Amino acid sequence: MASFKTIDDLDVNGKRVLVRADLNVPIRDGVVTDTTRIDRSAETILALASRGACVVVCSHFGRPKGKRVPEMSLKPIVEPLSRALGGVPVAFAEDCVGPAAELVVNGLAPGEVALLENLRFHDEEEKNDPAFAQKLADLCDLYVNDAFSSAHRAHASTEYIARLVPAAAGRLMQAELEALGKALDNPQRPVAAIVGGAKVSTKLELLGNLVSKVDMIIIGGGMANTFLFAQGIEIGASLCEKDMADTARAILEKAAAAKCQIVLPIDAVVASAFKEGAENHVVAIDAVPADKMILDVGPQTAQAVIAKLGECKTLVWNGPFGAFEIKPFDAATNTVAQAAAQATAGGRLLTVAGGGDTVSALANAGVEDKFSYVSTAGGAFLEWLEGKTLPGVAALL
Ligand code: 3PG
Ligand code: MG
Repeated sequence: MASFKTIDDLDVNGKRVLVRADLNVPIRDGVVTDTTRIDRSAETILALASRGACVVVCSHFGRPKGKRVPEMSLKPIVEPLSRALGGVPVAFAEDCVGPAAELVVNGLAPGEVALLENLRFHDEEEKNDPAFAQKLADLCDLYVNDAFSSAHRAHASTEYIARLVPAAAGRLMQAELEALGKALDNPQRPVAAIVGGAKVSTKLELLGNLVSKVDMIIIGGGMANTFLFAQGIEIGASLCEKDMADTARAILEKAAAAKCQIVLPIDAVVASAFKEGAENHVVAIDAVPADKMILDVGPQTAQAVIAKLGECKTLVWNGPFGAFEIKPFDAATNTVAQAAAQATAGGRLLTVAGGGDTVSALANAGVEDKFSYVSTAGGAFLEWLEGKTLPGVAALL
Protein backbone atom coordinates (compact mmCIF):
# COMPACT_ATOMS: atom_id res chain seq x y z
CA MET A 1 0.00 0.00 0.00
CA ALA A 2 1.28 3.46 -0.85
CA SER A 3 1.95 5.52 2.22
CA PHE A 4 -0.09 8.37 3.60
CA LYS A 5 0.51 11.00 6.25
CA THR A 6 -1.02 10.55 9.68
CA ILE A 7 -1.74 13.05 12.43
CA ASP A 8 1.73 12.26 13.81
CA ASP A 9 3.17 14.06 10.78
CA LEU A 10 1.25 17.28 11.46
CA ASP A 11 2.26 20.15 13.73
CA VAL A 12 -1.20 21.05 14.98
CA ASN A 13 -0.43 23.28 17.94
CA GLY A 14 -2.50 26.47 17.68
CA LYS A 15 -3.81 25.40 14.26
CA ARG A 16 -7.40 24.99 13.11
CA VAL A 17 -7.77 21.35 12.09
CA LEU A 18 -10.81 20.22 10.12
CA VAL A 19 -11.63 16.57 10.90
CA ARG A 20 -13.87 14.81 8.39
CA ALA A 21 -15.60 12.18 10.51
CA ASP A 22 -18.46 9.84 9.58
CA LEU A 23 -21.14 10.60 12.15
CA ASN A 24 -23.83 9.07 9.97
CA VAL A 25 -25.24 6.94 12.78
CA PRO A 26 -28.66 5.34 13.23
CA ILE A 27 -31.08 7.63 15.11
CA ARG A 28 -34.57 6.75 16.32
CA ASP A 29 -36.82 9.46 17.81
CA GLY A 30 -33.86 11.81 18.17
CA VAL A 31 -31.79 9.22 20.05
CA VAL A 32 -28.66 7.59 18.62
CA THR A 33 -29.22 3.83 18.67
CA ASP A 34 -25.64 2.82 17.86
CA THR A 35 -22.80 5.13 18.86
CA THR A 36 -19.98 3.02 17.38
CA ARG A 37 -18.99 5.53 14.72
CA ILE A 38 -19.08 8.41 17.20
CA ASP A 39 -17.06 6.50 19.77
CA ARG A 40 -14.47 5.50 17.22
CA SER A 41 -14.07 9.09 16.02
CA ALA A 42 -13.07 10.19 19.53
CA GLU A 43 -9.45 9.10 19.50
CA THR A 44 -8.41 11.42 16.68
CA ILE A 45 -10.33 14.39 18.04
CA LEU A 46 -8.86 13.94 21.52
CA ALA A 47 -5.34 13.46 20.17
CA LEU A 48 -5.57 16.68 18.18
CA ALA A 49 -7.16 18.64 21.03
CA SER A 50 -4.52 17.48 23.51
CA ARG A 51 -1.85 18.78 21.15
CA GLY A 52 -3.37 22.24 21.14
CA ALA A 53 -5.41 22.13 17.93
CA CYS A 54 -8.69 23.98 17.49
CA VAL A 55 -10.65 20.92 16.32
CA VAL A 56 -13.46 21.45 13.83
CA VAL A 57 -15.43 18.27 13.16
CA CYS A 58 -17.58 17.88 10.05
CA SER A 59 -19.72 15.03 8.68
CA HIS A 60 -22.65 14.19 6.48
CA PHE A 61 -25.83 12.72 7.91
CA GLY A 62 -28.41 10.86 5.84
CA ARG A 63 -29.16 11.94 2.29
CA PRO A 64 -30.82 15.39 2.45
CA LYS A 65 -29.87 16.06 -1.20
CA GLY A 66 -28.74 19.65 -0.75
CA LYS A 67 -31.73 20.71 1.37
CA ARG A 68 -31.86 21.80 4.99
CA VAL A 69 -33.86 18.81 6.32
CA PRO A 70 -34.38 19.37 10.08
CA GLU A 71 -34.52 15.62 10.86
CA MET A 72 -31.06 15.31 9.34
CA SER A 73 -29.40 17.93 11.51
CA LEU A 74 -26.22 16.89 13.28
CA LYS A 75 -27.31 18.77 16.40
CA PRO A 76 -28.51 15.58 18.19
CA ILE A 77 -24.93 14.28 17.79
CA VAL A 78 -23.41 17.05 19.96
CA GLU A 79 -24.33 15.31 23.24
CA PRO A 80 -23.14 11.79 22.31
CA LEU A 81 -19.98 13.24 20.77
CA SER A 82 -19.20 15.19 23.91
CA ARG A 83 -19.79 12.01 25.94
CA ALA A 84 -17.48 10.01 23.66
CA LEU A 85 -14.84 12.70 24.25
CA GLY A 86 -15.05 12.11 27.99
CA GLY A 87 -17.13 15.22 28.62
CA VAL A 88 -15.20 17.72 26.49
CA PRO A 89 -17.74 20.40 25.47
CA VAL A 90 -18.64 20.52 21.78
CA ALA A 91 -19.70 23.83 20.22
CA PHE A 92 -22.18 23.62 17.34
CA ALA A 93 -22.30 25.71 14.15
CA GLU A 94 -25.69 25.93 12.41
CA ASP A 95 -23.98 25.77 9.03
CA CYS A 96 -20.86 24.00 7.77
CA VAL A 97 -19.55 26.96 5.75
CA GLY A 98 -19.95 30.76 5.71
CA PRO A 99 -20.45 33.24 8.57
CA ALA A 100 -22.19 30.83 11.01
CA ALA A 101 -19.32 28.37 10.71
CA GLU A 102 -16.63 31.09 10.82
CA LEU A 103 -18.08 32.56 14.00
CA VAL A 104 -17.90 29.25 15.85
CA VAL A 105 -14.51 28.23 14.45
CA ASN A 106 -12.92 31.60 15.22
CA GLY A 107 -14.27 31.35 18.77
CA LEU A 108 -12.34 28.13 19.47
CA ALA A 109 -9.33 28.26 21.78
CA PRO A 110 -6.59 25.63 21.35
CA GLY A 111 -7.84 22.30 22.72
CA GLU A 112 -11.49 23.11 22.06
CA VAL A 113 -13.88 21.25 19.76
CA ALA A 114 -16.71 22.30 17.46
CA LEU A 115 -19.10 20.33 15.26
CA LEU A 116 -20.39 21.78 11.99
CA GLU A 117 -23.91 21.21 10.62
CA ASN A 118 -24.54 18.49 8.02
CA LEU A 119 -22.29 18.93 4.96
CA ARG A 120 -25.01 17.55 2.67
CA PHE A 121 -27.32 20.49 3.39
CA HIS A 122 -25.29 21.97 0.50
CA ASP A 123 -25.59 20.06 -2.76
CA GLU A 124 -22.06 21.17 -3.73
CA GLU A 125 -20.75 18.67 -1.17
CA GLU A 126 -21.80 15.60 -3.17
CA LYS A 127 -20.80 17.31 -6.42
CA ASN A 128 -17.22 17.57 -5.15
CA ASP A 129 -17.51 21.28 -5.97
CA PRO A 130 -14.14 23.10 -5.87
CA ALA A 131 -15.61 26.42 -4.63
CA PHE A 132 -17.46 24.65 -1.80
CA ALA A 133 -14.29 22.72 -0.91
CA GLN A 134 -12.51 26.09 -0.79
CA LYS A 135 -15.11 27.38 1.69
CA LEU A 136 -14.35 24.39 3.92
CA ALA A 137 -10.64 24.97 3.40
CA ASP A 138 -11.07 28.60 4.50
CA LEU A 139 -12.13 27.30 7.92
CA CYS A 140 -8.90 25.44 8.59
CA ASP A 141 -5.12 25.25 8.36
CA LEU A 142 -4.94 21.45 8.23
CA TYR A 143 -7.30 18.67 7.13
CA VAL A 144 -7.66 15.22 8.67
CA ASN A 145 -9.83 12.54 7.07
CA ASP A 146 -11.06 10.02 9.62
CA ALA A 147 -14.05 8.82 7.60
CA PHE A 148 -13.00 5.56 5.95
CA SER A 149 -16.68 4.62 5.79
CA SER A 150 -17.29 7.62 3.48
CA ALA A 151 -14.10 7.19 1.47
CA HIS A 152 -15.98 5.58 -1.45
CA ARG A 153 -17.56 8.99 -2.07
CA ALA A 154 -15.66 11.63 -4.07
CA HIS A 155 -17.21 14.55 -2.24
CA ALA A 156 -15.88 18.03 -1.43
CA SER A 157 -15.16 17.12 2.20
CA THR A 158 -13.57 13.76 1.38
CA GLU A 159 -11.77 14.42 -1.90
CA TYR A 160 -11.39 17.96 -3.24
CA ILE A 161 -10.42 19.56 0.06
CA ALA A 162 -7.35 17.32 0.29
CA ARG A 163 -6.01 19.15 -2.76
CA LEU A 164 -6.35 22.52 -1.01
CA VAL A 165 -5.07 21.97 2.53
CA PRO A 166 -2.24 19.79 3.93
CA ALA A 167 -3.99 16.47 4.58
CA ALA A 168 -3.50 13.45 6.79
CA ALA A 169 -5.34 10.31 7.88
CA GLY A 170 -6.92 10.24 11.33
CA ARG A 171 -6.46 7.33 13.73
CA LEU A 172 -9.63 5.52 12.66
CA MET A 173 -8.81 5.89 8.95
CA GLN A 174 -5.32 4.64 9.73
CA ALA A 175 -6.63 1.64 11.70
CA GLU A 176 -9.08 0.71 8.93
CA LEU A 177 -6.41 0.91 6.22
CA GLU A 178 -3.88 -1.05 8.25
CA ALA A 179 -6.38 -3.80 9.12
CA LEU A 180 -7.66 -4.08 5.57
CA GLY A 181 -4.12 -4.11 4.23
CA LYS A 182 -3.24 -7.05 6.47
CA ALA A 183 -6.32 -8.92 5.27
CA LEU A 184 -5.98 -8.58 1.51
CA ASP A 185 -2.96 -6.61 0.30
CA ASN A 186 -0.33 -8.36 2.31
CA PRO A 187 -2.00 -11.24 4.13
CA GLN A 188 -0.68 -14.33 5.84
CA ARG A 189 -1.88 -17.25 3.73
CA PRO A 190 -4.03 -19.19 3.28
CA VAL A 191 -6.73 -16.50 3.21
CA ALA A 192 -10.43 -17.35 3.40
CA ALA A 193 -13.32 -15.04 2.61
CA ILE A 194 -16.80 -15.67 3.93
CA VAL A 195 -19.28 -14.00 1.62
CA GLY A 196 -22.93 -14.15 2.56
CA GLY A 197 -26.03 -12.07 2.15
CA ALA A 198 -29.14 -12.31 0.06
CA LYS A 199 -28.12 -11.64 -3.50
CA VAL A 200 -25.33 -12.62 -5.86
CA SER A 201 -26.19 -9.62 -8.04
CA THR A 202 -24.93 -7.15 -5.40
CA LYS A 203 -21.68 -9.07 -4.86
CA LEU A 204 -20.54 -9.88 -8.39
CA GLU A 205 -17.64 -7.46 -8.53
CA LEU A 206 -16.65 -8.45 -5.04
CA LEU A 207 -16.54 -12.17 -5.90
CA GLY A 208 -14.77 -11.39 -9.17
CA ASN A 209 -12.03 -9.55 -7.31
CA LEU A 210 -11.75 -12.01 -4.43
CA VAL A 211 -11.18 -15.12 -6.56
CA SER A 212 -7.81 -13.71 -7.60
CA LYS A 213 -6.86 -12.59 -4.09
CA VAL A 214 -7.93 -15.26 -1.62
CA ASP A 215 -7.37 -19.02 -1.42
CA MET A 216 -10.94 -19.95 -0.58
CA ILE A 217 -14.36 -18.32 -0.72
CA ILE A 218 -17.02 -19.71 1.59
CA ILE A 219 -20.43 -18.76 0.25
CA GLY A 220 -23.47 -18.50 2.49
CA GLY A 221 -26.79 -16.69 2.68
CA GLY A 222 -29.38 -16.45 -0.07
CA MET A 223 -26.63 -16.07 -2.64
CA ALA A 224 -25.46 -19.64 -1.98
CA ASN A 225 -28.86 -20.80 -3.30
CA THR A 226 -28.12 -19.24 -6.67
CA PHE A 227 -24.81 -21.10 -6.85
CA LEU A 228 -26.51 -24.37 -5.88
CA PHE A 229 -29.26 -23.80 -8.46
CA ALA A 230 -26.59 -23.06 -11.08
CA GLN A 231 -25.16 -26.51 -10.38
CA GLY A 232 -28.51 -28.20 -10.88
CA ILE A 233 -29.40 -28.64 -7.20
CA GLU A 234 -33.09 -28.27 -6.30
CA ILE A 235 -33.51 -25.44 -3.82
CA GLY A 236 -37.31 -25.59 -3.42
CA ALA A 237 -38.98 -22.27 -2.57
CA SER A 238 -35.73 -20.63 -1.48
CA LEU A 239 -34.67 -17.11 -2.40
CA CYS A 240 -32.74 -17.47 -5.64
CA GLU A 241 -31.75 -15.25 -8.57
CA LYS A 242 -32.35 -17.75 -11.35
CA ASP A 243 -31.31 -15.27 -14.02
CA MET A 244 -27.88 -15.13 -12.39
CA ALA A 245 -27.14 -18.83 -12.92
CA ASP A 246 -24.81 -18.22 -15.89
CA THR A 247 -22.98 -15.56 -13.91
CA ALA A 248 -22.62 -17.90 -10.94
CA ARG A 249 -21.18 -20.60 -13.23
CA ALA A 250 -18.76 -18.06 -14.70
CA ILE A 251 -17.57 -17.15 -11.20
CA LEU A 252 -17.05 -20.86 -10.41
CA GLU A 253 -14.97 -21.23 -13.59
CA LYS A 254 -12.94 -18.13 -12.85
CA ALA A 255 -12.31 -19.44 -9.34
CA ALA A 256 -11.19 -22.84 -10.64
CA ALA A 257 -8.79 -21.14 -13.06
CA ALA A 258 -7.40 -19.00 -10.23
CA LYS A 259 -7.12 -22.06 -7.95
CA CYS A 260 -9.48 -20.42 -5.49
CA GLN A 261 -11.57 -23.03 -3.72
CA ILE A 262 -15.31 -22.30 -3.51
CA VAL A 263 -17.05 -23.78 -0.48
CA LEU A 264 -20.83 -24.21 -0.73
CA PRO A 265 -23.34 -25.56 1.82
CA ILE A 266 -23.68 -29.32 2.18
CA ASP A 267 -26.82 -29.17 4.33
CA ALA A 268 -29.51 -26.60 5.08
CA VAL A 269 -32.11 -25.54 7.61
CA VAL A 270 -35.47 -25.33 5.83
CA ALA A 271 -38.84 -23.88 6.84
CA SER A 272 -42.20 -23.08 5.25
CA ALA A 273 -42.27 -19.44 6.32
CA PHE A 274 -39.81 -16.60 6.72
CA LYS A 275 -40.63 -15.81 10.32
CA GLU A 276 -39.16 -15.93 13.80
CA GLY A 277 -39.44 -19.42 15.31
CA ALA A 278 -40.88 -20.97 12.13
CA GLU A 279 -41.00 -24.75 12.33
CA ASN A 280 -37.85 -26.01 10.67
CA HIS A 281 -35.66 -29.01 10.03
CA VAL A 282 -32.25 -29.89 8.68
CA VAL A 283 -31.89 -31.58 5.29
CA ALA A 284 -28.98 -32.61 3.08
CA ILE A 285 -28.42 -30.02 0.37
CA ASP A 286 -29.75 -32.35 -2.35
CA ALA A 287 -32.95 -33.05 -0.40
CA VAL A 288 -34.60 -29.63 -0.05
CA PRO A 289 -38.41 -30.18 -0.30
CA ALA A 290 -40.08 -28.32 -3.18
CA ASP A 291 -42.34 -26.27 -0.85
CA LYS A 292 -39.67 -25.29 1.69
CA MET A 293 -37.14 -22.48 1.80
CA ILE A 294 -33.56 -22.54 2.99
CA LEU A 295 -33.16 -20.03 5.85
CA ASP A 296 -29.74 -21.04 7.13
CA VAL A 297 -26.92 -23.38 6.27
CA GLY A 298 -27.01 -26.59 8.31
CA PRO A 299 -24.86 -27.74 11.24
CA GLN A 300 -22.68 -29.98 9.05
CA THR A 301 -21.89 -27.02 6.84
CA ALA A 302 -21.01 -24.90 9.88
CA GLN A 303 -18.63 -27.61 11.12
CA ALA A 304 -17.11 -28.02 7.65
CA VAL A 305 -16.54 -24.26 7.46
CA ILE A 306 -14.88 -24.26 10.89
CA ALA A 307 -12.60 -27.11 9.74
CA LYS A 308 -11.70 -25.11 6.61
CA LEU A 309 -10.90 -22.05 8.72
CA GLY A 310 -8.56 -24.27 10.72
CA GLU A 311 -6.39 -24.47 7.57
CA CYS A 312 -6.31 -20.69 7.18
CA LYS A 313 -4.34 -17.83 8.74
CA THR A 314 -6.54 -14.93 7.62
CA LEU A 315 -10.30 -14.48 7.30
CA VAL A 316 -12.26 -11.66 5.67
CA TRP A 317 -15.96 -11.81 6.51
CA ASN A 318 -18.81 -10.06 4.74
CA GLY A 319 -22.39 -11.19 5.07
CA PRO A 320 -24.27 -13.70 7.26
CA PHE A 321 -24.84 -17.41 6.54
CA GLY A 322 -28.56 -17.34 7.21
CA ALA A 323 -31.52 -15.10 8.01
CA PHE A 324 -29.78 -14.11 11.26
CA GLU A 325 -32.35 -11.44 12.15
CA ILE A 326 -34.96 -14.14 12.85
CA LYS A 327 -34.16 -16.90 15.32
CA PRO A 328 -33.18 -19.72 15.12
CA PHE A 329 -31.83 -18.97 11.65
CA ASP A 330 -28.83 -17.18 13.15
CA ALA A 331 -27.40 -20.51 14.37
CA ALA A 332 -24.76 -21.19 11.71
CA THR A 333 -23.58 -17.56 11.65
CA ASN A 334 -23.23 -17.68 15.44
CA THR A 335 -21.41 -21.02 15.48
CA VAL A 336 -18.89 -20.01 12.82
CA ALA A 337 -18.44 -16.49 14.23
CA GLN A 338 -17.75 -17.87 17.72
CA ALA A 339 -15.24 -20.38 16.35
CA ALA A 340 -13.52 -17.59 14.39
CA ALA A 341 -13.40 -15.47 17.55
CA GLN A 342 -11.83 -18.36 19.46
CA ALA A 343 -9.20 -18.89 16.76
CA THR A 344 -8.50 -15.15 16.91
CA ALA A 345 -8.03 -15.26 20.67
CA GLY A 346 -5.68 -18.22 20.23
CA GLY A 347 -3.59 -16.25 17.74
CA ARG A 348 -4.32 -18.77 14.97
CA LEU A 349 -6.46 -16.56 12.74
CA LEU A 350 -6.50 -12.87 11.80
CA THR A 351 -10.15 -11.90 11.41
CA VAL A 352 -11.41 -8.79 9.62
CA ALA A 353 -15.11 -8.14 9.10
CA GLY A 354 -17.28 -5.36 7.77
CA GLY A 355 -20.01 -4.21 5.44
CA GLY A 356 -23.72 -3.82 5.91
CA ASP A 357 -25.36 -6.53 8.00
CA THR A 358 -22.10 -8.16 8.99
CA VAL A 359 -21.49 -6.11 12.12
CA SER A 360 -25.04 -6.70 13.43
CA ALA A 361 -24.67 -10.41 12.67
CA LEU A 362 -21.42 -10.54 14.66
CA ALA A 363 -22.95 -8.50 17.48
CA ASN A 364 -25.87 -10.95 17.55
CA ALA A 365 -23.28 -13.73 17.92
CA GLY A 366 -21.68 -11.78 20.78
CA VAL A 367 -18.28 -11.52 19.10
CA GLU A 368 -18.14 -8.03 17.57
CA ASP A 369 -15.26 -7.09 19.87
CA LYS A 370 -13.52 -10.45 19.56
CA PHE A 371 -12.41 -10.19 15.94
CA SER A 372 -9.01 -8.75 15.05
CA TYR A 373 -10.77 -5.84 13.37
CA VAL A 374 -14.37 -4.88 12.65
CA SER A 375 -14.73 -2.07 10.14
CA THR A 376 -17.11 0.86 10.69
CA ALA A 377 -17.75 0.89 6.95
CA GLY A 378 -20.67 -0.45 4.93
CA GLY A 379 -20.49 0.55 1.28
CA ALA A 380 -16.82 1.56 1.50
CA PHE A 381 -15.90 -1.89 2.86
CA LEU A 382 -17.70 -3.54 -0.08
CA GLU A 383 -16.00 -1.29 -2.63
CA TRP A 384 -12.67 -2.06 -1.02
CA LEU A 385 -13.45 -5.81 -1.32
CA GLU A 386 -14.29 -5.14 -4.95
CA GLY A 387 -10.73 -3.90 -5.41
CA LYS A 388 -11.81 -0.35 -6.23
CA THR A 389 -9.78 2.73 -5.49
CA LEU A 390 -11.57 4.72 -2.81
CA PRO A 391 -11.39 8.43 -3.72
CA GLY A 392 -11.17 9.55 -0.09
CA VAL A 393 -8.18 7.28 0.46
CA ALA A 394 -6.53 8.11 -2.86
CA ALA A 395 -6.74 11.81 -1.97
CA LEU A 396 -4.51 11.18 1.07
CA LEU A 397 -1.76 9.38 -0.85
C1 3PG B 1 -22.54 4.91 5.13
O1 3PG B 1 -23.27 4.86 6.12
O2 3PG B 1 -22.43 3.97 4.32
C2 3PG B 1 -21.70 6.14 4.94
O3 3PG B 1 -21.92 7.05 5.96
C3 3PG B 1 -21.93 6.74 3.57
O4 3PG B 1 -23.25 7.17 3.43
P1 3PG B 1 -23.89 7.28 1.98
O5 3PG B 1 -24.07 5.87 1.48
O6 3PG B 1 -25.16 8.04 2.12
O7 3PG B 1 -22.89 8.02 1.11
MG1 MG C 1 -24.09 3.68 2.38
